[in-house]
Amino acid sequence: MTESITITDNRTGESLEIPIANGGVDAADWRKLLPGIWFHDPGLATTSGAESAITELDGENGILRYRGYPIEQLAEKSTFLEVSYLLLHGELPTQQQSDEWVNEITHHTYLHDKFRRKMYDSFHYDAHPMGLLCSNVAGLSTFYPGSKDIDDPSIRMEHAVRLIAKMPTLATSAYRHSVGQPFVFPDNTLDYASNFLRMMFEVGNPYEVDPAFQRAMEVLLILHADHEQNCSTTTARVVGSSHTDPYTAMSAACAALYGPRHGGANEAVLNMLDGIGSYENVEPFIEGVKAGNERLMGFGHRVYKNYDPRARIIKEAAHDVFAVTGTNPLLDIALKLEEAALSDEYFISRKLYPNVDFYSGLIYESMGFPRNMFTVLFAIGRMPGWLAHWNEMLDQDSRIARPRQLYTGEAERDYVAMGDR
Ligand code: CMC
Repeated sequence: MTESITITDNRTGESLEIPIANGGVDAADWRKLLPGIWFHDPGLATTSGAESAITELDGENGILRYRGYPIEQLAEKSTFLEVSYLLLHGELPTQQQSDEWVNEITHHTYLHDKFRRKMYDSFHYDAHPMGLLCSNVAGLSTFYPGSKDIDDPSIRMEHAVRLIAKMPTLATSAYRHSVGQPFVFPDNTLDYASNFLRMMFEVGNPYEVDPAFQRAMEVLLILHADHEQNCSTTTARVVGSSHTDPYTAMSAACAALYGPRHGGANEAVLNMLDGIGSYENVEPFIEGVKAGNERLMGFGHRVYKNYDPRARIIKEAAHDVFAVTGTNPLLDIALKLEEAALSDEYFISRKLYPNVDFYSGLIYESMGFPRNMFTVLFAIGRMPGWLAHWNEMLDQDSRIARPRQLYTGEAERDYVAMGDR
């Protein structure tokens, strides 16, 4: 028996049976029976916006898989560039494909010199690096007008390579501008994570990349690489559905990520931990959250109603970094917060668990990243995911995104002259 639902229009008595396929029902059938009656779903919490074969997320059971591969296995065995290939191409690369892919990414890391000098200089000295990143990713579209040819899959892939390759250069240039340090050019002899760390931190003496930092960076990038239809990925798909070029669509995704409810949460977590200040203040803080005066940043998720598997991996990765750097004093407060929240009825009943952002900021800070770079790090990691969804959406020849609204404003009225208002 095929699974289905039946909807009845009580005004007319007319019914329609709609089959359930892949856990959803086709809204086109709903439209047939109920033209002009819109499915009202602010936040799109119960609406599927896409059919996608990229990432499987089972929030009830805390499962995350990229193209079928469990996140735990990828975090342990893979690299960020291999995961990027997997997300975009659907399969793990062979040795030859991997060599070509890494070579291509490695040789597209430079920014046009005019872009590097002029774009960054035009921002105020203390501009937030995420603001620079959003603008400069969009700015690249003017240097690559050929990227507008989004009907050609090979052109799409060419610019996907450029975007993944240039993100560390864009990110570190934004940072160095904000602290008044000269740019460090990419070193094509280094792997992706090491190159990024060197461009970020080298001042004066050559920067030796600690293997524990290199691996932690790889793991963090892998964990952030995709998360199906989240706010920024949905933005990439929606903006891309108008057939704009990939740089502009990816810039829009960066902008969506910037907010504290999404990618900005990792920065907000550390500010929150600072604000709590000491172990003794954890309980009163939790009471404040329950009273609705505070929000426990790094907790809760639209989809996970269980421990975020990424948070578990990050918590473990933190030990390897802390073994090199010494522990972060805010870790104790974070652990106490987690313990207090996980045993409290408020959080239990709402199924609020730590998410990816709860521990990632502690690692970043211990590695020497300033807080305003945390969301930028998230954006570097998420770029292949955004691109894979954008590419998939174009392959599916999707319609332009154009939701309906339930109008609640004034009925028609006549214009009132200024003197009569
Ligand atoms: N602290 C306290 N209460 C919370 C929290 C929290 N962090 N998150 C949700 N709640 C409560 C919320 O007040 C609501 O309570 P009630 O039913 O009494 O009104 C209930 O839990 C359901 O929450 P919601 O607001 O309907 O959940 P949502 O799906 O709209 O929001 C969220 C999801 C991630 C925006 C939210 O949990 C939040 O703001 N968390 C803190 C910010 C954060 O850590 N964001 C990173 C998300 S993971 C990385 C990413 O994907 O970007």
